[in-house]
Amino acid sequence: MLDRMIATQTYEVSQIDKLAAGVRREISRQASRAETAQLVAAQLRRNLPTPEVLTPEQRAGSPDGYRSHTLHVEPDGSFSIIGLVWLPGQITRIHDHLTWCVFGVIQGIEHEELFDAGLTLLGESDNQTGDVSGFAPPGDIHRVHNTSDETAISIHIYGTDVTRTGSSVRRFYD
Ligand SMILES: [Fe+2]
Repeated sequence: MLDRMIATQTYEVSQIDKLAAGVRREISRQASRAETAQLVAAQLRRNLPTPEVLTPEQRAGSPDGYRSHTLHVEPDGSFSIIGLVWLPGQITRIHDHLTWCVFGVIQGIEHEELFDAGLTLLGESDNQTGDVSGFAPPGDIHRVHNTSDETAISIHIYGTDVTRTGSSVRRFYD
């Protein structure tokens, strides 16, 4: 039993380690923010973790609001990998980001709305399990909403140390 627990844990760690190694490689190219977002998105598509990167407690979410779990912070502060858990109906405020951002849905569906600076809705999409996209400011004013009746989980990668900046958010618009 103990052997099995250790094996499972090694698997969980290696999913993030593998992803972090790929992201590190892309960042070292020193491309523009927009290009980096696309390069990192390709890495996340190749190394998309399973929901088991989070503990069962983390995967359960919280009725108080969507939950964020820091899975990796690069020692030089160049990027962070976060797991977000949304119960049905949970929603972010309208916001944009300090840096490039890449996200992939690993469970459920995330409904995303994109706005212009006047908060006119530009477009919306239902991001399904397995969908990955990347973007860089400006033009990244958005809101994410779990409109489904299943808990949604996604992996977000931000081009900063979110523990140092406190958050990846540049500004809230509401
Ligand atoms: Fe965001």
